[in-house]
Amino acid sequence: MCGIVGYLGENAVRISAKKLELLQYRGYDSAGVGFIQNGKIHLSKTVGSVKNLRADYDSFSAIAHTRWATHGNVCTRNAHPHTSGENWAIVHNGIIENYTKLREGEFVSDTDSEVISFLLEKHGKGLNSVIETAKNLEGSFAILALEKGSELYAIKNKSPLFASANKSGIMFASDPICFCGFSDTYYTFCDKEVAKASGKTLKFYDFDGNEIAKECVGLDIDQTQSDKGDFDTFMRKEIYDIPFCQKRIYETYTNSYLLPIIKLFQSADEVWFIGCGTAYHACAYGEDVFAKAGKKTRAFIASEFRYSHIFPSKNTLCVFISQSGETADTLGALEKVDKICKTVALTNVGYSALAKSCQMVLPVLAGEERAVASTKAYVCQLTVLSLIARAISDRVVAIEIVDKQTIDELSGVAKRLVIGFDSKELFVLGRNADYVTAMECALKVKEVSYINANAYPTGELKHGFIALLSNDAQVLVFATSDDLMKKNCSGAQECKSRGANVTVITTSEHEFAGVDEIIKVGSYIQSVVFAQVFALECAIKRDTNPDMPKNLAKSVTVE
Ligand code: M6R
Repeated sequence: MCGIVGYLGENAVRISAKKLELLQYRGYDSAGVGFIQNGKIHLSKTVGSVKNLRADYDSFSAIAHTRWATHGNVCTRNAHPHTSGENWAIVHNGIIENYTKLREGEFVSDTDSEVISFLLEKHGKGLNSVIETAKNLEGSFAILALEKGSELYAIKNKSPLFASANKSGIMFASDPICFCGFSDTYYTFCDKEVAKASGKTLKFYDFDGNEIAKECVGLDIDQTQSDKGDFDTFMRKEIYDIPFCQKRIYETYTNSYLLPIIKLFQSADEVWFIGCGTAYHACAYGEDVFAKAGKKTRAFIASEFRYSHIFPSKNTLCVFISQSGETADTLGALEKVDKICKTVALTNVGYSALAKSCQMVLPVLAGEERAVASTKAYVCQLTVLSLIARAISDRVVAIEIVDKQTIDELSGVAKRLVIGFDSKELFVLGRNADYVTAMECALKVKEVSYINANAYPTGELKHGFIALLSNDAQVLVFATSDDLMKKNCSGAQECKSRGANVTVITTSEHEFAGVDEIIKVGSYIQSVVFAQVFALECAIKRDTNPDMPKNLAKSVTVE
């Protein structure tokens, strides 16, 4: 996690700090900038968001960092940049796995990153010191190193890093999104590469010091949806983007576009879906919908799968689902199988490491998602999966496009429902595809409102967790599958008879007599959107910031 930016050119501090704001999705525990003034390295740091960072300094070179704490608590001392002498300042994204071995002598911070500035000082000056340092490091690292003389260096291994240049300067960043408005082209670092920016010159090297010729590529980033406009939060704005994004999916995934995709899915003996968090829930939905379409299928949590003893056969198709395409665990899972079977990335970021490493990319087409809690990307992932499954078998009904009026209505209901919600604990139930929604609802509620919401398959009630129910328990039941309506109904009644307050979100209101509240939705996908607006309203009621929840980051680029 963490976001890094470096700039060589006029107004380097202001430009770096401004661009850093775009990287706060990678973490926002602390922020800092390092720059040269009067031939000396200076640092400015703050705890919390970049907006608290003092950046009104004149300098021709700067490096900047927004942190998601891995090693060392959140405080100014642990905020980047780090220095270990007078000659070098560094910012780092990733984890230096051999840092304990490298920590010799006095260190100021508790971070793994400080060993980098320590090694740079130890190895002396210039490119030689950068390469020697890089060779000593193990783990994942995107590093920017500022040398006293104004030169800027970059090192990359396993964490994302990009560079771009225009006639006024040279920029490095964790995400090419920073290059919007700066240049139309950029360079992508490969693992074990170093770059040196000096004056107007940018050069790339391998870890042996050999210069590398690198081609730039065109910048194609849609930032049209990155403003929250009149909405109170990005999360709400992004839920309201859903109709537009789904329409774009329907326009893109036409019959002819789907042809090679269907061929690939049909030729596989099995389809496995692999992802983390909300993207894992999309995997679980994929498992359900492709089973309906008659495929052998499984869903895996990437962080578990990558270290498991489960391996695909060569005729398995592994579909990796990730909004960002940079999730370390998902990339780790891909690394485990990519020599064995065919791989597909279902991702929202076409230039991501996942997209680049899989044999086929299915675009999610959700546009930029800023809120940490994924909403529109999730609905888009489900929409794409349902369209492919539908193209394979007419036993599947493709997810329909949700309209604005429905979102308005569901939001109104959610707002009213949370008024009576005082519970610190929430039980969310469902079966099969509705259990997937229950898991997603519980995750979303936890993430943005910090209520301890937990999902259970309705049928598991009597196997244990019913022991937790009493008069003050709050239960949500998702029930949209016709064939499981009666089963969900019994589950709801069992909760009711233990005194719990039960709300059912269902397509069939007639089944659930006696529960406390029935919320009628028109379809499965409407129940998913209800789960999202419900979580958002829980956050609003509890006055938390749903766009930047505590302890989280949007892109989880470390294990
Ligand atoms: O970028 P990815 O889809 O790979 O991210 C995976 C999870 O980290 C992510 O879905 C996380 O659970 C979200 N914060 C959910 O809202």
